[in-house]
Amino acid sequence: MDDETQTGLDEAADDAVAGVARAGLSEELVGEIRRRVLDEPGLMRVTQVARRGGQVRRVSLRPLQLKGVRQFQQESTAGGRIVVRNLDPVEAGAAVAQILDQKGARELHLVTAAGDLHVRVTRKGKVLLSRSKPLARTVEEAPAHDHVKHQPLQAFDADILLRVIGIADGEGRIRASMRGKYDQVNEFLRLFDAIVAERAADAGPLVLADCGCGKAYLTLAAYFYLTRRHGLDVQVRGIERNAELVATARRMAEDLGVAREVQFLAEDLATCHLAERPEIVVSLHACDTATDEALARAVEWGSRVILCAPCCQHELQDELKGGGPMRAVLRHGILRERLADMLADTFRAQMLRILGYRVTVMEFVAPEATARNLLLRAEYSGKPGQSQAVGEYLDLRDWWQVRPCLENRLGERLGRYLARLEARPPHA
Ligand SMILES: C[S@@+](CC[C@H](N)C(=O)[O-])C[C@H]1O[C@@H](n2cnc3c(N)ncnc32)[C@H](O)[C@@H]1O
Repeated sequence: MDDETQTGLDEAADDAVAGVARAGLSEELVGEIRRRVLDEPGLMRVTQVARRGGQVRRVSLRPLQLKGVRQFQQESTAGGRIVVRNLDPVEAGAAVAQILDQKGARELHLVTAAGDLHVRVTRKGKVLLSRSKPLARTVEEAPAHDHVKHQPLQAFDADILLRVIGIADGEGRIRASMRGKYDQVNEFLRLFDAIVAERAADAGPLVLADCGCGKAYLTLAAYFYLTRRHGLDVQVRGIERNAELVATARRMAEDLGVAREVQFLAEDLATCHLAERPEIVVSLHACDTATDEALARAVEWGSRVILCAPCCQHELQDELKGGGPMRAVLRHGILRERLADMLADTFRAQMLRILGYRVTVMEFVAPEATARNLLLRAEYSGKPGQSQAVGEYLDLRDWWQVRPCLENRLGERLGRYLARLEARPPHA
């Protein structure tokens, strides 16, 4: 309750309060709440907390603007789960009726620009009212989802999303242990701005695949950012071979009311089948060679954009031979590891170049957020087989006498370009 709100009402004083009803809310009060929630321009939120049989059930409604249309966002919490629904005004009317029909001990708190109303119904059915004095708060009529702030996850109302995916706690604060993931996701989302700006206005629905999506932090955040911030029609597919993680991700999508738009496949990247070709493929820290699998699938799907932050890379470490005078680096475990990481990403970038992608390798987030902060950003340019890219790749590959995983994986597609120069004698 705000400072201005009258407090101190207690059960002993309840009989003195006008409009008291014992078994339920008076018609007059019901009418007032309905009108102020559904019709008053300055509605900020209405929240009801009910306790029944040891269970606490919380429901709140607040206005929001979706694609220029006034709607309501309903958030219900029961048994530790938060479920969110966007409601049109008719559905909101039904939701208000449900709130008002609630039986048993409960508290309802209505906050509007004009003032607050607090209703408490005791276990014995007494109704206690308190009101703030008349106020003239300045509020946005319906908080828009398109106000820009510093971080992508602040550019729209992401409170519920962050709580459902567990990046924020119940109070909406970013959990200390999740700060790194929050930063990583934000920086990924920031990259979407330029990608979306380059899309033709009539490009149709945007399909995005998240390869090795794990707990779906990025998957769900991508959906909400692209729809709420950019107003796009979006379908997202999360691919994850761990069935338990997929079950959790599906439940979160349901709780957020987006299970149709954000779907999860409990499958291996290598064998999964997507009904729609993803225009954008993202992959954040897919383990080891799953990164290569994500890149290979993106190439096979003909994806326009790939955003891939590789994770640990073990495969190449044991294979490095050759290297000429650089062989000394391989004597030291940590240097071998770092060199293998660097070479693996260089090979990946080079192969994507050969296949016609423009590739940028960048640090996408500060090292404090993750030591694995390298990102390959690849965009299809339509000019595969450039001999400089092929030559550089072969030189480096033969110098280290390795055959990178992605080359094996994309053998046929790459083969035709590599074959043109492969006949040359290898580097010493
Ligand atoms: C380190 S986690 C990262 C998860 C998520 N992208 C994130 O950033 O929070 C890597 C995930 O990739 C999944 N994964 C690894 N190899 C895979 C494969 N071949 N197919 C599907 N999922 C895979 C793992 O099960 C794991 O959940």
